[in-house]
Amino acid sequence: MITGKSILLIISGGIAAYKSLDLIRRLKERGASVRCVLTDGGAQFVTPLSVAALSEDAVYQDLFSLKDESEMGHIRLSREADLLVVAPASADLMAKMANGHANDLASTILLATDKPVLIAPAMNTRMWDHPATRRNFQTLLQDGLHAIGPGAGDLACGEVGSGRMSEPLEIVAAIEGILSDTDAPLKGRRAIVTSGPTYEAIDPVRYLANRSSGKQGHAIAAALADLGAEVVLVAGPNSLVDPAGVTVRDIESADQMLAACESALPADIAVCAAAVADWRVAGEAEQKMKKDGSGQPPALNLVENPDILATLSQLNGGRPGLVVGFAAETETVVAHARKKRARKGCDWIVANDVGAGTGVMGGDQNTVHLITAQGEENWPTMAKDAVAIALARRIAQFFDAGFDADFDANSDAE
Ligand SMILES: Cc1cc2nc3c(=O)[nH]c(=O)nc-3n(C[C@H](O)[C@H](O)[C@H](O)COP(=O)(O)O)c2cc1C
Repeated sequence: MITGKSILLIISGGIAAYKSLDLIRRLKERGASVRCVLTDGGAQFVTPLSVAALSEDAVYQDLFSLKDESEMGHIRLSREADLLVVAPASADLMAKMANGHANDLASTILLATDKPVLIAPAMNTRMWDHPATRRNFQTLLQDGLHAIGPGAGDLACGEVGSGRMSEPLEIVAAIEGILSDTDAPLKGRRAIVTSGPTYEAIDPVRYLANRSSGKQGHAIAAALADLGAEVVLVAGPNSLVDPAGVTVRDIESADQMLAACESALPADIAVCAAAVADWRVAGEAEQKMKKDGSGQPPALNLVENPDILATLSQLNGGRPGLVVGFAAETETVVAHARKKRARKGCDWIVANDVGAGTGVMGGDQNTVHLITAQGEENWPTMAKDAVAIALARRIAQFFDAGFDADFDANSDAE
């Protein structure tokens, strides 16, 4: 799919730059041509010689190079590329990009380009969590840039947390997703995606909720939109940036989520990734409940919430052509998910183990099993972004059997 495509890879200054050497190799294996720009910081971590040898091209480093700029090199490099990839994207380069700086070759190209840009941030977890970096990242997403990662795990600085650059094959999958945009296999298809938790009110200030962050559902909405679908994202309370190119309907309760889904019909695709509360409190108190001094806690009477997945799966007339549910399980994951698929009447179930210690709820990684009428597939542990891309590609293949949905995160053998 990326055969014959031209990637301009900008390598900035982070330890993860060593992974970009492998990324070059992976892209070349798939028939893409890769041209590289090294920032001053990037050149401290990998040598121009390694980058040139792997990319089989010159390496560009200097904005004021007389040789390159006699042909307006900073414009030409962007013009000749189908996609710009910044991997690793250092905190410093992201800050420059978010603020429109153009004081070296990389930032000038990034400011001068009209091509899609994918960034793969990588940094120490405290740098990533810093409000300045978060602000810059949000600005870049709002500017329409694509992003993959960072994931969580052991960092080169010896700390553990978010900030680890996505693996080369995950970045390759994101590149394939963006470049297949031109084919837009889901163009003309409408999708409803639910995401996040629901809040079920107890009284005006208290509610029942769960630990869902919405990361997986939001990533699926973005991945479907990247493949050309018109997406309505029905989102429970979350702290995520709204994905670009997606219509977002913010709701709180399961009742509101169902109503928002119904009003977004008709749709070809429904992906129910939200962690909808099974129960709500019967008779929400109109005023804040008070302790009455008796020492007796109030009894909360629970009633069952509407089943959004089952409702969409069993619609009489107007059922989406493909309904995908999620099963968050803490034990015998696949067996429970298989039963859930039959019970709800949906087409596919994506089962994930959310048990204590897996770190799935709120985390950046997911290990899923795709359960269909044909059987089940065990996918490797991937970043939630990568799971979303793989799922969106499978959905595109469902509607167009000729579409190549292969996602080779398994083929990491040397
Ligand atoms: C050993 C070392 C490791 C570093 N790792 C990172 C990193 O992973 N991510 C990052 O954003 N900055 C990292 N930095 C800081 C950047 O290299 C520094 O901000 C540099 O100016 C970035 O240059 P650039 O704008 O060319 O990317 C590191 C610095 C050192 C000395």
